Amino acid sequence: MRAKIVAGNWKMHGTRAESATLIDAIIAGLRADSAQCVLCPPFVYLSDAWRLLRGGSVALGAQDVCAETHGAFTGEVSAAMLKDVGCQYVLVGHSERRALYGEDSLLVARKFAAALSRGLTPILCVGEQLAEREAGRTREVVASQLDAVTGLCGVPALGTAVIAYEPVWAIGTGRTATPGQAQDMHEFIRQRMAGQDAKIAADVRILYGGSVKAGNARELFAMPDVDGGLIGGASLKADEFLSIVAAASG
Ligand code: PGA
Repeated sequence: MRAKIVAGNWKMHGTRAESATLIDAIIAGLRADSAQCVLCPPFVYLSDAWRLLRGGSVALGAQDVCAETHGAFTGEVSAAMLKDVGCQYVLVGHSERRALYGEDSLLVARKFAAALSRGLTPILCVGEQLAEREAGRTREVVASQLDAVTGLCGVPALGTAVIAYEPVWAIGTGRTATPGQAQDMHEFIRQRMAGQDAKIAADVRILYGGSVKAGNARELFAMPDVDGGLIGGASLKADEFLSIVAAASG
């Protein structure tokens, strides 16, 4: 039985004070048997968040990481720095990074490797654009995003990671994949990994992301290969996020 995870990706939202209020409200609303919860605030609020989380059950994550270890890379943040401020998780290959900042699958794989090398758990985001789905290329696109990582890091590396399937057409659009569409792709991802290592494929957590809300979380999380969610907009409202966490908690 894979334990579910719910990760909140705040993107570039909120003030320092709002982020603190949100964290306090989430901590206060969690039950003792809640699913694993990961919060990913903007870089500049990570240290504050770490202090507020007080080493409790909620884990801290970052939204991105540099593929390089250190040096003259103005504006970048290394995996070691993220570890240093208390992060346990980091998103890599979010579709906004891929689409808006030109991150290709090789760079994403290098970021994945950088995260692992510092003991961070990468949450590898994969997913197709609407035109790719309409052209019948969904599986091919997702397979190539996965293969870039396994090609550089090997399949065992995925055993210590989390995967997030996020169809790009569902992110921030209010248009969620149906539970059937999500299950179909999660099963495809797991089967593709099983071809190389059955144990790792059976154990890896595959989160669904894309307009998850309190109202649709339970039916998505009920799918056999959906192991929780990566939540954008709905993670900015404590009550909504807590309802999603409750849906993952059974
Ligand atoms: P959304 O974002 O929940 O607002 O669709 C998900 C994500 O970008 O991870």
